[in-house]
Amino acid sequence: MKLLTIMLLMLFLILHKPSFVLSSTIDYPFAPSPQIQAISTSMASSPSSPGFEQENEKQGMDSHRKMVIAFVVASTALSALILCLLFFWIYYHTSHSSKSKRTSVQNSGQDAEKGAYLSKFSSIKMVGKKGCVPIIDYKQIEKGTNNFKESNILGEGGFGCVYKATLDDNLDVAVKKLHCENQYAETEFENKVELLSKIQHPNIISLLGCSNDGITKFIVYELMHNGSLETQLHGPSHGSALTWHMRMKIALDTARGLKYLHEHCYPAVIHRDLKSSNILLDANFNAKICDFGLAITDGSQNKNNIKLSGTLGYVAPEYLLDGKLTDKSDVYAFGVVLLELLLGRKPVEKLAPSQCQSIVTWAMPHLTDRSMLPTIVDPVIKDAMDLKHLYQVAAVAVLCVQPEPSYRPLIADVLHSLIPLVPVELGGTLRVSQVTQQVLPIDDVAENSSHSI
Ligand SMILES: Nc1ncnc2c1ncn2[C@@H]1O[C@H](COP(=O)(O)OP(=O)(O)OP(=O)(O)O)[C@@H](O)[C@H]1O
Ligand SMILES: [Mg+2]
Repeated sequence: MKLLTIMLLMLFLILHKPSFVLSSTIDYPFAPSPQIQAISTSMASSPSSPGFEQENEKQGMDSHRKMVIAFVVASTALSALILCLLFFWIYYHTSHSSKSKRTSVQNSGQDAEKGAYLSKFSSIKMVGKKGCVPIIDYKQIEKGTNNFKESNILGEGGFGCVYKATLDDNLDVAVKKLHCENQYAETEFENKVELLSKIQHPNIISLLGCSNDGITKFIVYELMHNGSLETQLHGPSHGSALTWHMRMKIALDTARGLKYLHEHCYPAVIHRDLKSSNILLDANFNAKICDFGLAITDGSQNKNNIKLSGTLGYVAPEYLLDGKLTDKSDVYAFGVVLLELLLGRKPVEKLAPSQCQSIVTWAMPHLTDRSMLPTIVDPVIKDAMDLKHLYQVAAVAVLCVQPEPSYRPLIADVLHSLIPLVPVELGGTLRVSQVTQQVLPIDDVAENSSHSI
């Protein structure tokens, strides 16, 4: 605005300059009085005085030249002003648009969604920020969990407990408590929180913030009302809350979350610890992947040199034996989860105190035998699905747990084979009319389909 004012002032002065130039010829210091001027004008106009005529002609030419100069100066100044204004306009618009572009990058993806969710949490006190992660006042966490009361515990993992916390305004969240004894653990905690803050997808848990009390750190997540898939399948209800279609929906949601990590994140993310306890279910049984403590990003480090970690029963053989880590390691773990959903069995069953059997080893011979397959499905969903769909899902699971990683499908392929098995209202493409709850006696099944998959 200041610049504009200066420009206008300059224009005003410049435009008035010619009149100063012209008037200076008249307002001569010793200018004659109006009467003398009138006489001199009449004398000058008299044809009988050639000296005056010459003088008059010269003056006329002078004033004409000055007029031309003034005109040139004024038009140059005007063009300069227009140019300046144009530059000013371009500069203003460029800086404005780049500013809004930067904001949209920072708040890309689900950030808006998360922001809307967070805005509900008016009680969350943002006392600081690390990247896009709100830092929540520790006192709120302490008060919200009733001072970490046992009855508030939602579950316990290898690194600490997860508590239900009610923040002010009756807003419920889940708080994961972690002990970070050394600087390395602290840096890792910060990196993981930062990674999760950038990963935003409907099938990936939303990080709401973090907090700390000395070496104890807290990660605040959205509360998943139906807990983990592990608790649903292997807890007191033994999977009775999960119908066949709901299980297929959970598998589809998980595949969607994984596909996002493998194909839509840059650099790509390998979760490394996919398991039923890291698949959480919200109030509507939408599944979301959580726990990115072991996740690594492609290219950030030598993937084959990282510390071997994961959970027994879910770790791909090539990773366990050679430390070879690819997105196919997650596909293997996904296959194990799919088997849990199909069979209702734990990934590793204890046969004797020192003897365990993996679900893969146990199920493999039965999965490829169509006559056997219906007999080994989870009793809770037995006979409650279209057999064609059961064979199809079993075939997908068999491919996912192949010992050779290159024989396993990409998670995108898995996803596409699951979509037609999930009803439209649950996020798939299966029409209600197509849903035939086929219940065939085992003998018929054996008769109709005695081939291997
Ligand atoms: N956001 C959440 N909402 C509801 N319950 C949750 C949430 N996060 C975790 N839980 C519950 O807490 C349990 C423990 O979670 P946690 O991630 O600490 O351990 P884990 O997955 O069992 O094992 P690990 O330590 O190897 O990850 C989960 O299995 C789940 O039942
Ligand atoms: Mg976990």
